[in-house]
Amino acid sequence: MKRSLAFPGGQIPLIGLGTYKLNGRDGQKAIEAALECGYRHIDTARMYENEREVGAALRTSGISREEAFVTTKIWPSDFRKVISATEDSLRNLGTDYADLLLLHWPTDTDAIKKAAEDLNEVIHKGYAKFVGVSNFNIELIDMVKDIAPIRCDQVEYHPFLSQEKLLGYLRSNDLFMTAYRPLAQGKLEGNSLLAEIGEKYGKTDAQVALRWIVQQDVVAIPKSASPERIRANIDIFDFELLPAEMEAISGLRNGTRLTTPEWSPKWD
Ligand SMILES: NC(=O)c1ccc[n+]([C@@H]2O[C@H](COP(=O)([O-])OP(=O)(O)OC[C@H]3O[C@@H](n4cnc5c(N)ncnc54)[C@H](OP(=O)(O)O)[C@@H]3O)[C@@H](O)[C@H]2O)c1
Repeated sequence: MKRSLAFPGGQIPLIGLGTYKLNGRDGQKAIEAALECGYRHIDTARMYENEREVGAALRTSGISREEAFVTTKIWPSDFRKVISATEDSLRNLGTDYADLLLLHWPTDTDAIKKAAEDLNEVIHKGYAKFVGVSNFNIELIDMVKDIAPIRCDQVEYHPFLSQEKLLGYLRSNDLFMTAYRPLAQGKLEGNSLLAEIGEKYGKTDAQVALRWIVQQDVVAIPKSASPERIRANIDIFDFELLPAEMEAISGLRNGTRLTTPEWSPKWD
């Protein structure tokens, strides 16, 4: 069963480890546990202040750099100094390049345009193989895609939140979506439909939710600090949801959006 998503010029493992709040020794241990049980995609950001832990875990794991897919992100306050911020991230990660570098949140148009122009330089210097955005709406992506060769938008996505419009737009523009908060931060737990479907396949509600995401060719980056749950979250490639089950899970949408800082764009 397919574990990676192909996109123009590359491919990305469909499940990655989200690392927000995985800091210090315990954080590094969780990232090592993920690499040990088969994760080859780690999602970090300068803002998480754990790029060093990610780099240390990668080195401890003994996995070659080429085998791992590492995403990091530039915070808006660094949009006018993308090159030096990226260099700092690479130093923290202890690597020559990121696989994917994202603009973390949109800010004012001028700063976005400047940052997007610099993403070209990032690629030219070999600091990142691919670039993209996070938390951008269709209007902003439309603007940025003419400035830099962005490949993805990382946004909140789980069964309680529809992203139909954005997903349709991304697909028709050859961009992929990465789903953050794919488990709705634990709020899916105990959902009777997910539990009922899970029972049929011998899976948990969380595994059914993750399967529902990746089966749409959307990448998911669940976070866990527990080795058991880390292992469970990638153990979703031995079953397939039926079209009727996919549709029933889509029907759980209820507008729950957990990430709504004051600087959010107008969501699609
Ligand atoms: N681009 C952005 O602006 C943005 C915003 C938010 C998040 N993100 C990224 O997305 C990642 C994931 O988001 P998130 O951490 O906020 O939320 P999440 O992955 O939806 O949920 C994490 C929560 O679910 C629990 N959990 C994990 N696996 C579970 C399982 N199998 N069964 C039951 N509970 C489980 C975790 O607890 P335990 O740790 O105790 O297992 C944790 O409390 C972040 O780490 C970050 O990398 C990006």
